[in-house]
Amino acid sequence: MSLSDFQWANRVADIAPFHVMALLARARQLQAEGRDVIHMEIGEPDFTSPPQVIEAGHQALRDGHTGYTPAAGIPELREAIARHYQTAYGVNVDPARILVTPGASGALLLLAALLVNPGDQVMMADPTYPCNRNFMRLFEGQSQLIPVGADSHFQLSAQHIEQHWTDKTRAAMLATPSNPTGTLVNLEQLAEISQAVSAKNGALICDEIYQGLTYGVEAQTALAVNDDAFVINSFSKYFGMTGWRLGWLVAPECAMPELEKLAQNVFLSATTPSQYAALAAFQPDTIALLEERRAEFARRRDYLLPALRELGMSIPVTPEGAFYIYAGIDHLTDDSFQWCQDLLEEEGVATTPGLDFGIEGARTTVRFAYAASIDKLEEAVTRIGRFIQKRA
Ligand SMILES: Cc1ncc(COP(=O)(O)O)c(C=O)c1O
Repeated sequence: MSLSDFQWANRVADIAPFHVMALLARARQLQAEGRDVIHMEIGEPDFTSPPQVIEAGHQALRDGHTGYTPAAGIPELREAIARHYQTAYGVNVDPARILVTPGASGALLLLAALLVNPGDQVMMADPTYPCNRNFMRLFEGQSQLIPVGADSHFQLSAQHIEQHWTDKTRAAMLATPSNPTGTLVNLEQLAEISQAVSAKNGALICDEIYQGLTYGVEAQTALAVNDDAFVINSFSKYFGMTGWRLGWLVAPECAMPELEKLAQNVFLSATTPSQYAALAAFQPDTIALLEERRAEFARRRDYLLPALRELGMSIPVTPEGAFYIYAGIDHLTDDSFQWCQDLLEEEGVATTPGLDFGIEGARTTVRFAYAASIDKLEEAVTRIGRFIQKRA
């Protein structure tokens, strides 16, 4: 038998590839052929990591920090993260409750391993970050997708939890700011959701990976209202460190021994030079630079949001965070993937079809990332306008 006849494990077939990857590959091909492509599909900042972080990474290598670290991360970084919660959010977090992970992705993996037995369900909004569903599937669990709309700011609410919780539901998962909608859950709602989840004896997972990237509103943390929440975060987005693969998890004290045990087994430790580099991420001069970048993201949001609305797209809730606008295009298509493909081919603008984020409304929505300069966004809007007019 050749391996080409081998039956891979069933879970692999259940994990769909991202449509955006096909679009990204095509966008790169078009660029290689000399086409000018504007990237609005990619979910990462267009800035490189802060120079302070890059220098600290070099220094870590020169200092010989090339071995494993403790599975939960180097103590200095866990302490620095705890201090960050205190300075930025006025919240006390014991460093012993912080586990440093390979990206927020590593934290999501550990949580799925910790919480999900075969057949268990984890409630999450539809639309949601696609990997969440797949992490649950990896552990033979199920994602319980709850269609959400403008009335709940495209987020799960306490009512959703009360209404949809079943005897198989183990946890509810939020992301604030959300990918793909850029909408937030405020502290009052977080408190209500926490109460609703705890009344069901469930666990609350709050993905705060876009924390710090909020515009016109203060960034928040679920830890301000719920000490028992599992909070996921990352150096990827606000700190501009996607490629360093570094994130963290704040967990209730009682879960830490189990999480550390899992981390030891799954990845031994997060990347060592990255951990030392990340120490520089909290320096005041680094934060000042990151705040300038945040202001730039705000300018882009303020440009792009009305421009897309003027093109007739439906964006009923103002996105207040992350760097995404999730727009309804049901008057233009019922096949978002094809629409994104055509837009790329005809006008060289790459976007992400709603299909990657869920089921409900997925064929009539598209996500625009504003991780590109205002000049490029302006050009993109001109091209999208032309594309829409041609088909009218
Ligand atoms: C909502 C959300 N959670 C988690 C992740 C994973 O990020 P990372 O592993 O880079 O920290 C992403 C990445 O785009 C995301 O959008």
